[in-house]
Amino acid sequence: MTAPNPYRIVFANEKGGTGKSTTAVHVAIALAYQGAKVAAIDLDPRQRTLHRYLENRAETERRRGIALPGVTFTVYDGGAADIDDLDDLAAQIGQGQDFLVFDTPGKDDPLARHVATTADTLVTPLNDSFVDFDLIGQVDPETFKVRKLSFYAELMWDARKKRANKTIAEQGRELDWIVLRNRTQHIEARNMKRINAALEELSRRAGFRVSKGLSERVIFRELFPSGLTLLDKDHLGDLGTSHLVARQELRSLVAGLNLPMPASGPAKAPPAAELARTAA
Ligand SMILES: Nc1ncnc2c1ncn2[C@@H]1O[C@H](COP(=O)(O)OP(=O)(O)O)[C@@H](O)[C@H]1O
Ligand SMILES: [Mg+2]
Repeated sequence: MTAPNPYRIVFANEKGGTGKSTTAVHVAIALAYQGAKVAAIDLDPRQRTLHRYLENRAETERRRGIALPGVTFTVYDGGAADIDDLDDLAAQIGQGQDFLVFDTPGKDDPLARHVATTADTLVTPLNDSFVDFDLIGQVDPETFKVRKLSFYAELMWDARKKRANKTIAEQGRELDWIVLRNRTQHIEARNMKRINAALEELSRRAGFRVSKGLSERVIFRELFPSGLTLLDKDHLGDLGTSHLVARQELRSLVAGLNLPMPASGPAKAPPAAELARTAA
């Protein structure tokens, strides 16, 4: 059964290049493969990566005469930031959907902030670098212990507090904030360990949980022009074993988000069953 209000998943941090758009597309398509109805709003009218990705996907379907699990999508380019306007668009595109995915620009932006603080699940991808880490907290240069929360972490802390103060009826769902270690590489074990330790410490103070995102792989850059994802395996050609690992990574990522999946109807059973079988 479809929930009256779609579950809102927001991909946000205040930095470009961490993989928000790429991860947003992959998660949205993965949910569609599992039989969920998914809509997506791109809040970055300049880059519109998510929107362009999904346009490319539609074009591939036309060109090849195929039908792929998909997402209803749009870009919000209301010019002047107008929160009511955005909420109207979200209500419109989200109608009858199970999930509403927001991709946001990598900068401080009033609309991005609005959707982040009203998310059901907020996904903040971070690369394994203290440069990225700085967005949520600062560490001591000698000990790498966390010194203080950043503005962004404080913002999310306040958002949760405000929600916790509301009545159950007003409050809706609790915010699940997930910091995703994304675009990870295997070459920097020492740095990775330090970041891990700092993230664990910060997660307790800032109220997020840490999960594993996608590894750094060329395939994620190559898929954009066709709009395909790693899950569209009948249409990708022979990709070799490293991509099997990558696909498994994507599935673990989605499982780690711990999203409320709708009970799928009989018409949707094939893709969901297919996913379950190959994940085994
Ligand atoms: N897991 C990944 N492996 C390799 N390249 C990636 C990965 N995720 C994203 N990229 C590439 O990194 C760049 C930034 O990714 P993007 O998703 O646009 O980040 P953001 O939306 O946070 O700015 C793009 O060129 C994209 O193709
Ligand atoms: Mg982006």
